[in-house]
Amino acid sequence: SYVLLNNQITERKNVKIDIEDRGYNFGDGIYEVMPIYNKQVFTMEEHLQRFEECAAKLEIKMPFDKATIANLLNELKTKNEITEGIVYIQMTRGVSPRAHLYERNVEGLITAFSRQMVFPKEQQQKGIRVYVTEDIRWLRCDIKTINLLGNTMVKREATDNDCKEAVMHRNGTVTEGSSSNLFIVKNGTIHTHPATNLILNGITRQTVIKLAEQNGYNIVEEAFSLEQLKNADEAFITSTTQEITPIIQAIGEINGTYSIGKLTKMLQNEFTQYVK
Ligand code: PDD
Repeated sequence: SYVLLNNQITERKNVKIDIEDRGYNFGDGIYEVMPIYNKQVFTMEEHLQRFEECAAKLEIKMPFDKATIANLLNELKTKNEITEGIVYIQMTRGVSPRAHLYERNVEGLITAFSRQMVFPKEQQQKGIRVYVTEDIRWLRCDIKTINLLGNTMVKREATDNDCKEAVMHRNGTVTEGSSSNLFIVKNGTIHTHPATNLILNGITRQTVIKLAEQNGYNIVEEAFSLEQLKNADEAFITSTTQEITPIIQAIGEINGTYSIGKLTKMLQNEFTQYVK
């Protein structure tokens, strides 16, 4: 398959990364996962916007502008003949002798691949079980960093407990999933954590908020507690790869059961119409 290395599209076997790339040594880099529907990268502009914002937060210089990157990613997915799936892009701070201190505004090293993938329809219809556990991550979860150990460790914990996703909390305040945002519905009102430093402001999250508003539902973007999660009527996660997936049961620090209710189904239908 073809991959992207900076502005070159080349075969995967041709790409070698240096052992002192700061992404490899420090997890010093950022990434995006964008969906492909009907051979088109969807919400590319929004993803590249966030990519640029995260680069600025970490003081990594983009080697090309967003329009150039968009063209390269489009060429990549076309060359790989992806009809439905994802395109993954990451940018690290590149190669330098290993030392914690970074130089400001050094041009980043970009790699990208695309992959055919089927979105998990069955999980979206039947719902999933989630494992509720402590949020052990750092305090800049707004940055989409490739440093994902806090996320991968709770995903492992969730899987070991027969759950598809981990839902995290900090001192009883629910934040998000290990690779998704979380919404709950109580008495017809939709709640989700505000876009602060404690969560990633998901592109799917933003789409869902927009679709809800278009349908006359104002989403309350305020932190909610484990107790509120426990007592919710409906609950669902959102992400590029999961789209809108209902939660039917929560175990771990709380126990809750949820119906795949009216609002979850309405948003799923709206989402499908929006992307397809
Ligand atoms: N993860 N929160 C976290 C911690 C995430 O890693 C993700 C996405 C989201 C949802 O963001 P979006 O709607 O923009 O995909 C929220 C991607 C899919 C991943 O790491 O594979």
